Amino acid sequence: MAKLAVIGCGYVGAVTAACFTDLGHTVECIDIDATRVAMLQRGIAPIHEPGLEPLLRAGIATGRLAIRSTYPERMDAEIVFIAVNTPASQEGAADLRAVRDAVTSVANRLATGSIIVNKSTVPIGTGDLVAGMARRTGMADIAVVSNPEFLREGSAVHDFMHPDRVVLGSTDPAAADRVAALYEPLGAFIQRVDIRTAEMIKYASNAFLATKISFINEIASICESLGADVTEVARGMGMDVRIGAQFLQAGLGWGGSCFPKDVRALAHMAAVHGTHPQLLRSVMEINSDQRLRTVQKIRAALDNDLERRRILVLGAAFKNDTDDIRNSPSIELAKLLQLEGADVAIYDPVVPAERIHREAPTLRVAETVAHGAFGAHALVLATPWPEFKTLRWDELGTLMARRTVIDSRNYLDAAAVVEAGFSYTCIGRPSLETPATVLESEFAMRRAE
Ligand SMILES: NC(=O)c1ccc[n+]([C@@H]2O[C@H](COP(=O)([O-])OP(=O)(O)OC[C@H]3O[C@@H](n4cnc5c(N)ncnc54)[C@H](O)[C@@H]3O)[C@@H](O)[C@H]2O)c1
Repeated sequence: MAKLAVIGCGYVGAVTAACFTDLGHTVECIDIDATRVAMLQRGIAPIHEPGLEPLLRAGIATGRLAIRSTYPERMDAEIVFIAVNTPASQEGAADLRAVRDAVTSVANRLATGSIIVNKSTVPIGTGDLVAGMARRTGMADIAVVSNPEFLREGSAVHDFMHPDRVVLGSTDPAAADRVAALYEPLGAFIQRVDIRTAEMIKYASNAFLATKISFINEIASICESLGADVTEVARGMGMDVRIGAQFLQAGLGWGGSCFPKDVRALAHMAAVHGTHPQLLRSVMEINSDQRLRTVQKIRAALDNDLERRRILVLGAAFKNDTDDIRNSPSIELAKLLQLEGADVAIYDPVVPAERIHREAPTLRVAETVAHGAFGAHALVLATPWPEFKTLRWDELGTLMARRTVIDSRNYLDAAAVVEAGFSYTCIGRPSLETPATVLESEFAMRRAE
């Protein structure tokens, strides 16, 4: 069993550390965020990630998982995983400051023959940069391996333990062998390539998934114009094994901590190196247009006027099963509605209110769906949390000023919503009007009672 270190205890780092500990290794996890570290040391996951906490607790209990907020004088790890954040800079390029800091911090603390493995998503050529940095600190014998991560938030532990493939990029076959040995128990195919190719596999994968979503959203718009149903179109397409069913759900578009910055960074890299990234730019444009189209639908459902309309947005996380609101389409949508004068509240079953406030200080955060629905003119499903599927529409309707639902993810049971007297608008398929829309006056009467 190996002695490992993981730098950065975020969505990727905490999961990597917990899973490698579970596989029997000894792991030291270092993060500069002292609050995050203090929680992890108590076995509390600072992020909502199913299955993570039990692994953390078990790892700490065995004494094989240690978490710290400072770098020790000497690190005895044989292999160090860099899993720090690489956000987009203003210009769209990946901001590598955290990677540089992490590499600087570990390079002169490691023993001869150690390996730096980069798990962060980094621009093509970063492996060379890291090797150069290590050399400059006098650690010429430190090998560099690129090992891009493909886990999904919400199923990160499962994805780490059951990868579709493991990609290892290196010019040092012995170093790649040592990293490969860590993954062998997982039984996945290990693809060995050079460092630049490994780095590109990650960007190309994310860009392709974002492209699939933008593609189906464009098809959804065409379906709307021509009277076809995009959900059935996607189903029919997805059964073709050459296409596959995943990432073909029309809706509000993609967001989160990875796709937006990675597609932008790839387009930036392409442009800086003389290629015209026409497709990637269209993929991004379709995605931002999708938010605007959704606003237009909400406006149309509310008599073409959003001024002072009370709207409850259901879901703040960028997708279900995570508490991550970085570049969340739900929050972007809520902000766009506010710009049109709407009075917007947002409810999320998992994301803490203070985090939403930090991201969008003017948004009201509802404590419950009922609380947010009171007096609302419309409910907008933005994040497909399973609990929204089982909402009691008849009861919610009695609280609302008007029974209007906009399902921006085609997620709800349309028949149940309409049955309860709501108008129902969705994406890329016919919207449903209830024959008995409850009028605003009904709410006013009840309020007066
Ligand atoms: N989140 C995902 O689903 C996902 C999936 C695949 C790949 N990735 C990539 O993995 C990387 C990490 O993503 P994340 O979502 O885990 O980020 P994150 O923001 O959740 O976590 C990064 C952590 O690194 C810490 N950090 C920053 N600089 C540091 C330093 N010098 N030393 C020690 N710790 C430091 C931060 O305090 C933070 O806790 C990114 O490059 C991302 O693109 C993310």
